[in-house]
Amino acid sequence: MKFGYFDDENREYVITTPKTPLPWINYLGCRDFFTLLSNTCGGYTFYKDAKLLRLTRYRYNDVPMDINGKYFYIKDGDTIWNPGWQPVKTELDSYECRHGIGYSRFNSEKNGVAASILTFVPMNDACEVTRLELTNNTSSEKDISLFSYVEWCLWNADDDSRNFQRNFSTGEVEVVDSVIFHKTEYRERRNHYAIYAVNEKIDGFDTIREAFLGAYRGAGEPEAVEKGSCTGSMASGWQPIAAHQLNLKLMPGESKSLVFVLGYIENAEDDKWESYGVINKKKAWEMLGRYKTDEDVDKAFSELNAYWKELLSRYTVKSSNEKVDRMVNIWNQYQCMVTFNMSRSASYYESGIGRGMGFRDSCQDLLGFVHLIPDRARERIIDIASTQFENGSAYHQYQPLTKMGNSDIGSGFNDDPLWLIAGTSAYVRETGDISILKEQVPFENDASKAKPLIEHLKRSFDYTATHRGPHGLPLIGRADWNDCLNLNCHSLHPGESFQTYGTSEGDVAESVFIGGMFVKYGKEYADLCELLGDDSEAERARNEADKMSGLLLSDAGWDGEWFIRAYDSNGDKVGSSECEEGQIYIEPQGFCVLAGVGAETGQAQKALDSVKERLDTKYGVMILQPAYTRYHEELGEVSSYPPGYKENAGIFCHNNPWISIAETVIGRGDRAFEVYKKTCPAYTEDISEIHRTEPYIYCQMVAGRDAKFHGEGKNSWLTGTAAWTFVNISQYILGLYPTHKGLSINPCVPKDFGDFSLTRMFRGAKYDITVSNPDKVEKGVKSLTVNGKKTEGCVIPFEEGVKEYKVEVVLG
Ligand code: BGC
Ligand code: NOJ
Repeated sequence: MKFGYFDDENREYVITTPKTPLPWINYLGCRDFFTLLSNTCGGYTFYKDAKLLRLTRYRYNDVPMDINGKYFYIKDGDTIWNPGWQPVKTELDSYECRHGIGYSRFNSEKNGVAASILTFVPMNDACEVTRLELTNNTSSEKDISLFSYVEWCLWNADDDSRNFQRNFSTGEVEVVDSVIFHKTEYRERRNHYAIYAVNEKIDGFDTIREAFLGAYRGAGEPEAVEKGSCTGSMASGWQPIAAHQLNLKLMPGESKSLVFVLGYIENAEDDKWESYGVINKKKAWEMLGRYKTDEDVDKAFSELNAYWKELLSRYTVKSSNEKVDRMVNIWNQYQCMVTFNMSRSASYYESGIGRGMGFRDSCQDLLGFVHLIPDRARERIIDIASTQFENGSAYHQYQPLTKMGNSDIGSGFNDDPLWLIAGTSAYVRETGDISILKEQVPFENDASKAKPLIEHLKRSFDYTATHRGPHGLPLIGRADWNDCLNLNCHSLHPGESFQTYGTSEGDVAESVFIGGMFVKYGKEYADLCELLGDDSEAERARNEADKMSGLLLSDAGWDGEWFIRAYDSNGDKVGSSECEEGQIYIEPQGFCVLAGVGAETGQAQKALDSVKERLDTKYGVMILQPAYTRYHEELGEVSSYPPGYKENAGIFCHNNPWISIAETVIGRGDRAFEVYKKTCPAYTEDISEIHRTEPYIYCQMVAGRDAKFHGEGKNSWLTGTAAWTFVNISQYILGLYPTHKGLSINPCVPKDFGDFSLTRMFRGAKYDITVSNPDKVEKGVKSLTVNGKKTEGCVIPFEEGVKEYKVEVVLG
């Protein structure tokens, strides 16, 4: 069952009922100012950092679900309604929410009054602009009162939700004309305030929550709206809000358009005040001056659209499969940009106050957006590498505002260092910019400890190479990619964090998965060394990677039918047929094979066949089987989840593309595509009542076969799935992979996929590529013609100065 449909022409998903199984949200904002906005107008806004600079409040995990947002109340006689249905929940005569690329629209109607809303964050301002248009579609005159409502967050969202003894006394506002200024803590250590304004004279306002809603009332039954008039309240402590009232007379057929601006303003320390206690509003007036009219809004909106249009033209496909085209050309890349901006910080499932930017997460996100915004990828790599420790290990997370490593969680996740190589290699392959490798980058954010980036990568490599266990495999530390494989934790008491409890590193517990990463990224590190002319270091790295590959294929890493997952701190196998539960894990099968391990010995094929036989379901490939049915102290969090959820035998979408990529490595296009389809939103749209999360983007986890709600998705939006599925479909299935020498084209598709064409921007040149498959093969390039010239192999040689490449590929 569906709750909407794709409008590919407009790059929108159109939600046709507000009663979606879960809130279906969108992200507005590209750089510093962000809004999460649901299909019922729920959500919140922050500047740069969802924890430290949150503008408006949201109530996570509250009832009714998805409450607090940017609400508009329309009072038309005795009827009060909201264009997004919530919070009053008056049944609407019509409703539609169009989530687009960086904007959302709502079109609803009640009793002959139509409301249409367009909301977006403009490219060059720290604000959210909303145009609201009301139209009287009846034949009689209408007297309508319109009310806006947002609830201010007192900036630090964490403190805001806990420290009431202080916070109930700090709230302050000013009101001038139609602008409400939120200035809590501005008198002391803050140099910023927020505004909520409308471009029209208002007939009333409120800034005290209780005055607007009424005591013991919620946003669904605001007293001021029921009475038809705001009270003019001025907040002093308690809960400051911003509500405007506009009384509108609409003649039959008449429309009225209003522009609301919610903004963030920062003043220089010595320029904070206009007069004693009165904030300097100069910048606020300037900002509002930029959004005074509908034309201003149109202009800002077309700038935003032009930005996205250009970005999404950098990689496009045209095939006979509209679902693939829609995911590749629109939604998958869009989600990659959102994960770039947010990492795992703020979604409807990440409260924005917990994790900052993950080291491994951000490095992997980079794989999905580097072709879109290479300059910002460069910046990101430097930020991440700056938090690395001198011994090569890494802070597991850092705070986006301060960019400092987060010492609450510290380090010890032994896969982290190698992801830095993955991200850097992707950047250099994409751009050819080897200067980044020579850039001086601090360790531990200490400029006096700066070393060239390549030295950081060397330390990443060496950290793994020198931290080995009894079998010669990499030590796992606190955990590897699977955060729940806490083999040194041994936690027995509730409340102990699996992520930080216990020793950060034992000298026995090892990870086969990190071994696979070491092969893949060890070789990529070697390539980078070679680019810098350091052949001996390249050779050393390749030798080490080859030795590791041999080890993985020996009894140390190989179980007979698949790769072992790990060794616990007693030296016992994890993910082996010898285990009572958790006999096979997905991660090492995917990663070892995608690294090429076992491709020549037949073990790769065997491992993937075992995955198909033991882990496959119709909703995707499970992370492990059989599920853990009891808590295993020696394994940690993985066995803490009920069977079928999350890392305990859930379908963890992030690693499904590893299997699909691995299948392309051994040339099985049918199976690679089958795996791709299972978790692909455009395909799961039809089962939205089972899947429940947004059908236009990936979620982190789908409940596995052992779970009660098999097939149900959770934790949408902020997941490494976005980047990895884009890598999978764009670089492996459609096969356009950036190498240091140029783009390589080597698709691996289902036999019946048909011909297709690709366009891509690469190092400033434009590629137009057609791929035909007359023999219906799964893989194999029979001929490659570049600008009319037959070319050997799969790599389209990059030539400085050549700006256009016409490429014809024949598979066979
Ligand atoms: C989750 C993981 C997550 C980890 C760190 C665990 O509870 O299951 O998916 O990575 O927490 O936040
Ligand atoms: C989510 C985390 O963000 C990611 O870093 C981790 O790899 C997966 N969970 C698997 O545990």
